[in-house]
Amino acid sequence: MEGSRETGGMTKIASHASISDGDDFDLSRLLDKPRLNIERQRSFDERSMSELSIAGNIRPVDSYENLYSPGGFRSGLDTPISRDSVEPHPMVAEAWEALRRSLVYFRGQPMGTIAAYDHASEEVLNYDQVFVRDFVPSALAFLMNGEPEIVKNFLMKTVQLQGSEKKIDRFKLGEGAMPASFKVKHNPVRQVDTIVADFGESAIGRVAPVDSGFWWIILLRAYTRSTGDVSLAETPECQKGMKLILALCLAEGFDTFPTLLCADGCSMIDRRMGVYGYPIEIQALFFMALRCALSMLKPDNEGKEFIERIVQRLHALSYHMRSYFWIDFQQLNVIYRYKTEEYSHTAVNKFNVIPDSIPDWIFDFMPSRGGYFIGNVSPARMDFRWFALGNCIAILSSLATPEQSMAIMDLIEERWEELVGEMPLKICYPAIESHEWRIVTGCDPKNTRWSYHNGGSWPVLLWLLTAACIKTGRVQIARRAIEVAETRLLKDSWPEYYDGKLGRYIGKQARKFQTWSIAGYLVAKMMLEDPSNLGMVSLEEDKAMKPVLKRSASF
Ligand code: GLC
Repeated sequence: MEGSRETGGMTKIASHASISDGDDFDLSRLLDKPRLNIERQRSFDERSMSELSIAGNIRPVDSYENLYSPGGFRSGLDTPISRDSVEPHPMVAEAWEALRRSLVYFRGQPMGTIAAYDHASEEVLNYDQVFVRDFVPSALAFLMNGEPEIVKNFLMKTVQLQGSEKKIDRFKLGEGAMPASFKVKHNPVRQVDTIVADFGESAIGRVAPVDSGFWWIILLRAYTRSTGDVSLAETPECQKGMKLILALCLAEGFDTFPTLLCADGCSMIDRRMGVYGYPIEIQALFFMALRCALSMLKPDNEGKEFIERIVQRLHALSYHMRSYFWIDFQQLNVIYRYKTEEYSHTAVNKFNVIPDSIPDWIFDFMPSRGGYFIGNVSPARMDFRWFALGNCIAILSSLATPEQSMAIMDLIEERWEELVGEMPLKICYPAIESHEWRIVTGCDPKNTRWSYHNGGSWPVLLWLLTAACIKTGRVQIARRAIEVAETRLLKDSWPEYYDGKLGRYIGKQARKFQTWSIAGYLVAKMMLEDPSNLGMVSLEEDKAMKPVLKRSASF
């Protein structure tokens, strides 16, 4: 790549990069676009907005354009302005109050929100900490309400924490690792605040928060996009922070796949749940973080090298995911009839998946209309479970093609009872039971069937569902889901999760006043009321990344 230049704070790369290597992707166009600044000036994802108007759900596109004012946030306001509903739902004010109660201050500055403000619970564990992943919906709520300061403080503090030495017993962790959480300790005698971060060395099971770094990059872009302030992303600290994260996940190894190899418990599902290998949640976040980083990295010497590596990885990753993780009725039928033991590059069944390993449930679950990215793909192993976060992030990041995005929404509609039920949204479907539960979870009593990470329903996922709905022009699905949530959430004191096949029961060990349940609801509401907010968490499709699948019935 050559000819990089910078113009008045805006990053532009003129590129002659050609990464075409024979298949039909061309991500090099990503590099041809003036980036950050252009994105910032767009009011929101144009494609999704035109689809919204086609769908007839909302006002004409023009009126949305008028709603957006770059950097024009409403500072100092405590209650958000509702754009299209005259009377905000009474839960909204309660939610803001609860969200503000969860604020954590460091030396007088708001720095994050604690995971749960549940005094009734006997066990605090680490729910009094600021989790990086949990803070994301809080951060989005504050950004949408014109309060970016806390988000800036958080981003700067966490990047500083990244620089601290991290050790588990005698083992030193990678430099780029971002904390899962941090705790502010107040010394009342000496009147000083200190921060203690956890990178997995204190976490139950010593799990690695692979998602933290990705969320940090995604949030940095959301901040930049929302405020129009590129100066934070351009600081040497943030540029270095991004590069350290990227150096970790773009490192070469023995891998034969472009997906990122992970241990169990590496993300929101932070306990053993059979998500080791190449979990969809991480792959989708990885893809999104790469695209966000691409829009923020300065093309200096080192930056240019990272940009090239990112482009190549995106190229390979999207091909791999769209080809091998995607399933719909037709593809299921193909796998069902797979031949095995094929050697050489002509193999159709590349990973030697034995059709007998296809679980029974999927034959009934798979509608003739709809599809999704499955949970995991590796040699002789396809985890057919549906995971909410990975599929929503695939839509938001445009890892999913527009057709695939539509098919994911179709599936949610077709399988409403299973995936939404009485509380949106199932973390994954279906639950693992009996002997399989014993083997896969290690007899985890918290992850019993249809509870917690094992098919539990998590209100926080509402914001991701809503964002995906807006992007695909299917706002009626979000409206319906929010209505369902509104019948219970406040009354039940904002539980962390619900149990049961339909999500009818407050989770056995769920915390109350779980901050991301509160913030997730607020973000969903604010996005629906002002769809221009979607731009913070959505990336447009890169037209150069052509779909590879032409076989799908749902396309
Ligand atoms: C649980 C969840 C995890 C979350 C944490 C704090 O460990 O599994 O995703 O970040 O609680 O709420």
